[in-house]
Amino acid sequence: MSRILVTSALPYINGIKHLGNLVGSQLPSDAYARFMRARGNEVMFICATDEHGTPAELAAAKAGKPVADFCEDMWQVQKDIADGFRLSFDFFGRSSSERNRDLTQHLAGKLAENGLIEEVSEKQVYSHADGRYLPDRYIEGTCPNCGSENARGDQCENCTKQLDPTDLINPRSAISGSTDLEVRETKHLYLKQSKMRDKLDKWIDSQKGWPILTTSIAKKWLHDGDGLRDRGITRDLDWGVPVQYDGAPWTGMEGKVFYVWFDAPIEYIAATAEWADANGLDDAAWESWWREDKGADDVKYVQFMGKDNVPFHTLSFPSTLMGSGEPWKLVDYIKSYNWLTYEGGKFSTSQGRGVFMNQALEIMPSDYWRWWLLSNAPESSDSDFTWASFQGGVNKDLADVLGNFVSRVTKFCRSKFGEVVPEGGAYGKAEAAVVAEIGKRLTAYQDHMEAIEIRKATAELRAIWVAGNEYLQATAPWSVYKTDPDAAAAMVRFALNLIPLYAVLSEPFIPDASAKMLVSMGAEGAAWPTDLSAALEALPAGHAFTVPDVLFAKITDDRRVELEEQFAGQG
Ligand code: MF3
Ligand code: ZN
Repeated sequence: MSRILVTSALPYINGIKHLGNLVGSQLPSDAYARFMRARGNEVMFICATDEHGTPAELAAAKAGKPVADFCEDMWQVQKDIADGFRLSFDFFGRSSSERNRDLTQHLAGKLAENGLIEEVSEKQVYSHADGRYLPDRYIEGTCPNCGSENARGDQCENCTKQLDPTDLINPRSAISGSTDLEVRETKHLYLKQSKMRDKLDKWIDSQKGWPILTTSIAKKWLHDGDGLRDRGITRDLDWGVPVQYDGAPWTGMEGKVFYVWFDAPIEYIAATAEWADANGLDDAAWESWWREDKGADDVKYVQFMGKDNVPFHTLSFPSTLMGSGEPWKLVDYIKSYNWLTYEGGKFSTSQGRGVFMNQALEIMPSDYWRWWLLSNAPESSDSDFTWASFQGGVNKDLADVLGNFVSRVTKFCRSKFGEVVPEGGAYGKAEAAVVAEIGKRLTAYQDHMEAIEIRKATAELRAIWVAGNEYLQATAPWSVYKTDPDAAAAMVRFALNLIPLYAVLSEPFIPDASAKMLVSMGAEGAAWPTDLSAALEALPAGHAFTVPDVLFAKITDDRRVELEEQFAGQG
């Protein structure tokens, strides 16, 4: 048994996320956490909302709410959606928590003590009309690189170039549209990441077996980009963690807050502290996951995220933790994902193109989404969501293979033997062959899950379901029954025993169907199999069950066309 810490990248608070965000971190991390728990490991699975920064302030302004209220409401919305997708977080925190404020200020203080923070006088744009500075997304204008007229102060979305507010041509306020702007000198704190380069380089090199996607992005930023440039970690905003020195005033920094990307990853730790608080536990409980000197030395820490988040998790956040000089637990494995596209194009919030998490749950059960998204996860390249592919995944894999198997065997049993497991003789060659096939597939499935190759794992799981269907097809108990009811009974007993096994193995992917299968088989306590043959004797003759309702309803062609039209967007 191991102790495994799993974190999913924190979704921004500013709006409801689309399916691409879901499959890029929360969903695979959930399948992994569930798998690891099922194997008997002690798991701590953490997520939270990322609540600071200009996107939160702008979204709140648009919604006409004070930003603190907006964040509170949106946290609840995101929490409900996470529950709807059955994301099994041990805690879903908020980066605006007191815990995160204290920890962020503490770490900044340590970095300053270690000479890794520098005060820099920099040029910021001040808006007279708005009576405030305009950092990041508060300012828009023409991109100096590509000429797009809608570049923002932090980045041009059109050409992806990272920008500073003063780089923009013809700048205007994103709040009021005012062009009555003035460049003023103001002091900010910079994290001297460049001083950490050698340490980071060595650390990344020492990480064996990281996905190529992760290391290639990290190395690129470390060596040939301006990625490890010293970065400003403070902003002239009201909403955020106030800049203080380990909780005490920081001279010259009054009225400023930390940059959202400085405090957000610290929330992984703080949310674990929030978990301890919520459960009436003391600090030792969360520190045992995060402090090497307090028990975390035996923890395996795995992070999940979209590839755009990799630089922050391979460079900035480790700089913060290493630079503190305190024994914080560093990540052991970073799993990063490519993009999910929608019908060959981009998901677009503004154009209403693609499916958002709340809409998804309104139209289909969460298991359907979980299965399609995870069996098509953008692991080795981008993947494309199409309704046709979704329909295929649901109808073929879930309904025709797993659902059909469960329905066929339970209904046949009910009609011939009643809703109890029949006796029959011992299992023979055909059953041994299925056990061998499933055993082989199960090993592969487990290996892929350990290696976090989620998509490959789903292929093995599907093959495990197929083995049951093929067994029924080949042995045909319904015809054997006519001449040898005893032999048919043994086949049915074997097939019925496959159901709890399938339920347990499928739980990381389709937890609702899995629970239904276990309840209908009266096998709620079933555990991950250590001995397959024994697992397939678990339901003895005479054990009662009930035929479950339809596990998966097929998606018709008409419905598919309807959905295609509904989500095509106006663009
Ligand atoms: N909110 C960020 C995004 O959506 C991810 C933050 S992850 C954390 O891209 F490290 F900051 F927590
Ligand atoms: Zn540009």
